Amino acid sequence: MNTGKKPEVLNINKLSKYYLSYGSLFNFKRNIIKAVDNVSFKVYKGDIFSIVGETGCGKSTLSKLILGLTNRTSGEIFYKGNILNYNLKKLNLRKKIQIVFQDPYSSLNPKKKIYKIVSLPAIKNKIIKKKDALQYSMQMLKNVGLDEDYVFKFPHELSGGQRQRISIARSLSVNPELLVLDEPVSALDVSVSAQILNLLLDLHEKNNLTYVFITHDLRLVRHMADTVCVMYGGKIMEISPVDKFFDGPLHPYSKVLLESILAYGPKNILQFADAGNININNININAGTGKNRRGCVYYNLCSRRMDKCINNEPDLKENGDVQVNCFFP
Ligand SMILES: Nc1ncnc2c1ncn2[C@@H]1O[C@H](COP(=O)(O)OP(=O)(O)OP(=O)(O)O)[C@@H](O)[C@H]1O
Ligand SMILES: [Mg+2]
Repeated sequence: MNTGKKPEVLNINKLSKYYLSYGSLFNFKRNIIKAVDNVSFKVYKGDIFSIVGETGCGKSTLSKLILGLTNRTSGEIFYKGNILNYNLKKLNLRKKIQIVFQDPYSSLNPKKKIYKIVSLPAIKNKIIKKKDALQYSMQMLKNVGLDEDYVFKFPHELSGGQRQRISIARSLSVNPELLVLDEPVSALDVSVSAQILNLLLDLHEKNNLTYVFITHDLRLVRHMADTVCVMYGGKIMEISPVDKFFDGPLHPYSKVLLESILAYGPKNILQFADAGNININNININAGTGKNRRGCVYYNLCSRRMDKCINNEPDLKENGDVQVNCFFP
């Protein structure tokens, strides 16, 4: 749990990423998609900070921004107090912040043997010499619970779970401090997911890591995280210690999410969304997604909406150790 005394690892300050969509052949009107919109939060050392939200709410865009894989529209990112003006490589921080993607197949080069995949970042970052690649990869594989013989295989020879272990080994090969996990188990079946999640918890403990753990599944948050950050339509709705959140979240959207998993048990949150009357296609429709958007992004679906919410946009406000993006007291 974040006590506030831990050192700050990541500080995201008013970060935005807008995309321009170009319409269709007969519709030239350009629209701005606010994938991430004025988002601020801090992640403290050793914490597992979980970002949860439905499809399209901006989770992957946010992870790409943190990694410097896409340019931001505005805002700042600080890593341990240093502003990240990409390029990360120049700052020698590339190795300190690593990402594990959702799909372990497309994120591994199919033409390369496992030991080359795992050792390449370490060679590039001058952590090991090329001649030590094999030995180093074998050690890395052991760390993620794989037999060292796998170093000679190609990605297609492995199962989904094994491939995700390779992705994790590759990320850890450069001794990172911060790992961004973008839906690391959503492509895996339930039992394999559980193994990978336990591995991640194990590695977190052993290597003194800090995680930004992205998921659309609130149940995983309870299992994994210290802090939960709920996103909707590119905005943060609530940031809360996990225990407090599951005792009773404050934002109306968080309540719907939580009620859905309580009511529907072990299902996917997208199914809960329908059940909770949240039509995925409705996300962001309030006041449009364009630059003239006013008011609360959740207005159309909100059970507690007030007139004030139509034209005024709430901001995150502190309520003890919880932050809520809502005018409702
Ligand atoms: N390169 C792009 N160009 C235009 N729009 C984009 C681009 N990438 C993402 N978007 C849009 O930005 C919004 C956020 O997308 P993002 O991939 O970050 O969502 P997500 O929360 O990761 O969703 P999912 O749970 O499906 O992975 C979506 O509306 C998406 O269509
Ligand atoms: Mg995503």
